[in-house]
Amino acid sequence: MFAAVYDPFLWMGERIGMRAERRELLRQACGRTVELGSGTGLNLRHYPDGLDELILTEPDAAMRARLERALRRSGRAAHVHAASAEQLPFADSSVDTVVATLVLCTVDAPDVAVREIARVLRPDGQLLFIEHVRSESPRLAAWQDRLAGPWRRFAEGCHCNRATVELMQAGELAVTHVREASWRGMPRIVRPLVVGRARPRPSSA
Ligand SMILES: C[S@@+](CC[C@H](N)C(=O)[O-])C[C@H]1O[C@@H](n2cnc3c(N)ncnc32)[C@H](O)[C@@H]1O
Repeated sequence: MFAAVYDPFLWMGERIGMRAERRELLRQACGRTVELGSGTGLNLRHYPDGLDELILTEPDAAMRARLERALRRSGRAAHVHAASAEQLPFADSSVDTVVATLVLCTVDAPDVAVREIARVLRPDGQLLFIEHVRSESPRLAAWQDRLAGPWRRFAEGCHCNRATVELMQAGELAVTHVREASWRGMPRIVRPLVVGRARPRPSSA
């Protein structure tokens, strides 16, 4: 059900800003690139040509079926894996770019996912991310807490009140660039966005 309504639900937000955010972020992808929780494939069109390899991971079967269709339509060369972010089927230090857009809000164990991202990245590799996060405004954060349960049921496990940058920083990733943005065209509780880049901490690489 969620897979079927995903693109229509995001349509307005994509049109009035998110698509441009994706394009701007993904032009920085390089080398062997692994995307986490690719969903219906909204990032596909934004990857630069000339990547060494593009690997799309998506654990949900319904999402993956849509992703595979989008990949065929795009004509891009990429592999699809049924992997979750907490258990990536890649060797240590074997990936140049990991991409996470609107995913770390949903993974069951974000601390484990952060560890996995740092493990698979080369020491000079990068995580490129766009995530909706817990608001800096106490008033909006209180609404995010209040509505977290119903939102999680509606949006297949998404946590609208997750402090994702703090989670990365507390784990094996160092956030080197971060910018706040707004996911316009979407419900207020998921509007606060962070866009940026993180690197594996030297001890975890
Ligand atoms: C809100 S959607 C985002 C989809 C896509 N990344 C985008 O930007 O439109 C969240 C995605 O994360 C996937 N997901 C859920 N749990 C996951 C996990 N543990 N690891 C990786 N992906 C997961 C979901 O199946 C879903 O496709």
